[in-house]
Order: sequence, then C-alpha cells, then structure tokens
Amino acid sequence: MAENTKKVWLITGSSTGFGRSLTETVLKHGDRVVATARKPEQLSDLVTHYPETVKPVQLDVTKPQEVRNAVNAALDAFGRIDVLVNNAGYGALGAIEEFSDEVIRQQFETNVFGALDVMRVVLPVMRKQRHGHIINVSSVAGFVSFVGTGIYCGTKFALEGISEALAQEVAPLGIKVTIIEPGAFRTDFNGRSLVTPDTLIDDYASTSGEFLQWIHNMNGKQPGDPDKAALAIMQAVTSNHPPLRLVLGADAVNAIDAKLKSVKEELDTWKSVACDTTFDGVEVGAIGGEAKSLLNITTPK
Ligand SMILES: NC(=O)c1ccc[n+]([C@@H]2O[C@H](COP(=O)([O-])OP(=O)(O)OC[C@H]3O[C@@H](n4cnc5c(N)ncnc54)[C@H](OP(=O)(O)O)[C@@H]3O)[C@@H](O)[C@H]2O)c1
Repeated sequence: MAENTKKVWLITGSSTGFGRSLTETVLKHGDRVVATARKPEQLSDLVTHYPETVKPVQLDVTKPQEVRNAVNAALDAFGRIDVLVNNAGYGALGAIEEFSDEVIRQQFETNVFGALDVMRVVLPVMRKQRHGHIINVSSVAGFVSFVGTGIYCGTKFALEGISEALAQEVAPLGIKVTIIEPGAFRTDFNGRSLVTPDTLIDDYASTSGEFLQWIHNMNGKQPGDPDKAALAIMQAVTSNHPPLRLVLGADAVNAIDAKLKSVKEELDTWKSVACDTTFDGVEVGAIGGEAKSLLNITTPK
C-alpha cells in the first residue's frame, strides 16, 4: 500500500478492550496508529511488532497538557491525523442517589470533557487538512437509559448530543463524525474498569442493585467480541458513506429498536397536546428552522 493511502489514526485508551482490539486491527490492516494509554508501557509488545507504524504516547484524557502533547506527537510522527477514536472511558454504575458528587464529576471529566478536549484539539488539524473522521465511542447507554446507569448514560447522552451537532458543523469542511453504540462486549468494562458506589441504599436493591448484580455476573460472559467490533469500525471508516451511528451487538440493536418504537408511540399519543402549545395562527416547521436542521445531516462524499 502506498504511504499516502495509509490512514493515520489517533486512538485513546489503547491498553485493553475496544481500544486495544481496534489498535491491533488497524495495524494489521497496514495503517499507522498513535496508540495512547495512561501507561504506555502496556503497548510495548505492539512497538516490537510494528516499530514503523505505531507510536505509543502517554495520554490521560483528563490531563489537558497530555492531550496537546499526544496530538503534537502524532503530527511529528506521521504529519497528519485522518481518524480520531475517542474510546477512553468507563462506567460508574449504580443508582443516581448512591454516588458522591466527586465520583459523578470524575465520570463526566473522562467520558465527556476528556473526549471533548481531544476533539477540540484535533479539529484544527482536520479543518486544515479538509478531511478527517472522528469516531466517538458512546454506548447503547448513549441512546437508552435504564436503572443503575443514570450517571454513565448522562455522559454518553452528552457525547451523543455533542457528536450529532458536530457532524453537522464539520460536514461542509470534509470531516465526518460517527458515534459507536456497543451493547455488552467482553472487555475490562464490567471488571477492573467498573466504578460502583461506596455505599448502597437498600431502597434501590430491587432496581439498581439487581442491575449491578447482573453486570457482575455478566463479566467475562458478555456476548460481544471486541475484535469483531474493531472490524465493524474499520468497515465504517473505509465506507464512502459512514453512518452517523453504528450500533454494535444484537442486544444493543434490540434495545434501541424498542426505545424508538416506544418514543414514537408516546409522541403520537401526545402529539395534539404538544402541538396545541403554539401561539394561535403561527406556522411551525422542524426546530432549527431554515438553518441546516436536525433532520438534515449530510456527510461529505
Ligand atoms: N465493553 C462494553 O460492554 C461497552 C459497551 C458500550 C460502550 N463501551 C465503551 O467502550 C469504551 C472502552 O471501554 P472498554 O469496554 O474497552 O473497557 P476497558 O477494557 O476497561 O477499556 C477502557 C479503556 O479506557 C481507558 N481509560 C479510562 N479512563 C481513562 C482516562 N482518564 N484517560 C485515558 N484512558 C482512560 C482505560 O485505560 P487504563 O488501562 O489506563 O485503565 C482503557 O484503555 C468506553 O468508552 C466504554 O464506555 C463499552
């Protein structure tokens, strides 16, 4: 493959799970990767196998200086960034009331503000290039919220809102945005990466408590294969028409399908009440008006 047809990727959270699988898949494909991790020594085997095409860089996404260093290291090593994968993240799972303010804020620092900072530092590079693809790893929990996931879902819903707007802002500049929505995949997510409340409240035992038990029991038995997820992400990145949302796993597809149906049913049931709140005589289109609007997301060809 000619040097200039090989993509340059910057991936956050390359140590384990999706980030690790994707980094390996991309390297096997012959592309170049700035693989980042809080402990870059975890990437040393990749450097042994791919000394020319992988650049390991230390990156904790909550540390602004490390974000800037990582982007500069990518430009120094490979001269451009074609694909940014905001993958670093974890789940704080438990009932909303059970968490301390500190744990909640830390969850948003990593999953939202960290990803946002990386995006905002990479965007000037991609705007100058007039091309690029930002992949934001959200979750089925970025579209459907359920007991025991309120704080985590808050972060992933935020990431989805940001991504959906960004897709429309940067499409005219040649930059694509794809949101990844995995279901349950066999990574370290349910194990070492899981953060649960220090103190559980009995009143939530039959709701959030049962969900947490399910999360623990599921550890190591999740149906999703992260290597197959990596191939699906590659497929989206190499597609001429990448999706805005890529759902991964039949469990996620089923949950999202059920939510879409229930939202539609409720919208239809309450439509007349909703529409009757307009000033008399005022004609209304979709929100966003004449501006390139919510329902009109175009991706560059
Ligand atoms: N597995 C699932 O079922 C599932 C489903 C939906 C979405 N997701 C999402 O997938 C993404 C990856 O998780 P995973 O499932 O692959 O779990 P994982 O194996 O636990 O990997 C999490 C990765 O995020 C990194 N990370 C956490 N906080 C970080 C920070 N402040 N700065 C930089 N890196 C940080 C971890 O680094 P360390 O090695 O240093 O801890 C690790 O590389 C997350 O965004 C998660 O929300 C996972």
